[in-house]
Amino acid sequence: MRRTSLIALPIVAAIAGVAWYLTHPQPPATAPQPPAGAPLVAVTIPETLPANAQIGQRIFDSACATCHGQNAAGRDGFGPPLVHRIYEPGHHGDEAFQRAAAQGVQSHHWPFGNMPPVPGLTRGDVAMVVAYVRALQQANGIR
Ligand code: HEC
Repeated sequence: MRRTSLIALPIVAAIAGVAWYLTHPQPPATAPQPPAGAPLVAVTIPETLPANAQIGQRIFDSACATCHGQNAAGRDGFGPPLVHRIYEPGHHGDEAFQRAAAQGVQSHHWPFGNMPPVPGLTRGDVAMVVAYVRALQQANGIR
């Protein structure tokens, strides 16, 4: 009898261990975080861009996309999507883009801080960028 209980002891302990493991929930794996800089909206890309908008796209990609994201879809933590109702022509006219590039923007709509002025762009350059952003907006039902 004594011998049997000695043999049983580690078995009982093992069963208790497994039971404890199964009945105590493990900490959940941390929820997947979107990568820093993830796009903030889904943007439908127009099939063709007018010539001015194509030039604007190149300027946008080099001067604006680090904050406003590829296809102006925004970058989480950096800058808002410009393909967004807030920036429709009736609310932010073309001059708002000129002002933003020349003077920067005090943060007021988004939690991403101020936009600094973007040096080295002419009004003509910014007009091309506007043509690009408007083409994207239109393809996404923002008029
Ligand atoms: C360093 C990051 C950064 C860069 C580069 C940048 N922006 Fe911005 N921009 C921002 C942020 C952040 C805001 C949002 C401010 C707010 O909270 O309303 C913004 C806002 C704007 C607005 C809205 C202005 C308004 O009146 O509310 C326009 C238009 C704009 N950007 C255009 C551009 C264009 C065009 C370029 C490239 C020439 C550009 N931005 C480059 C960060 C940036």
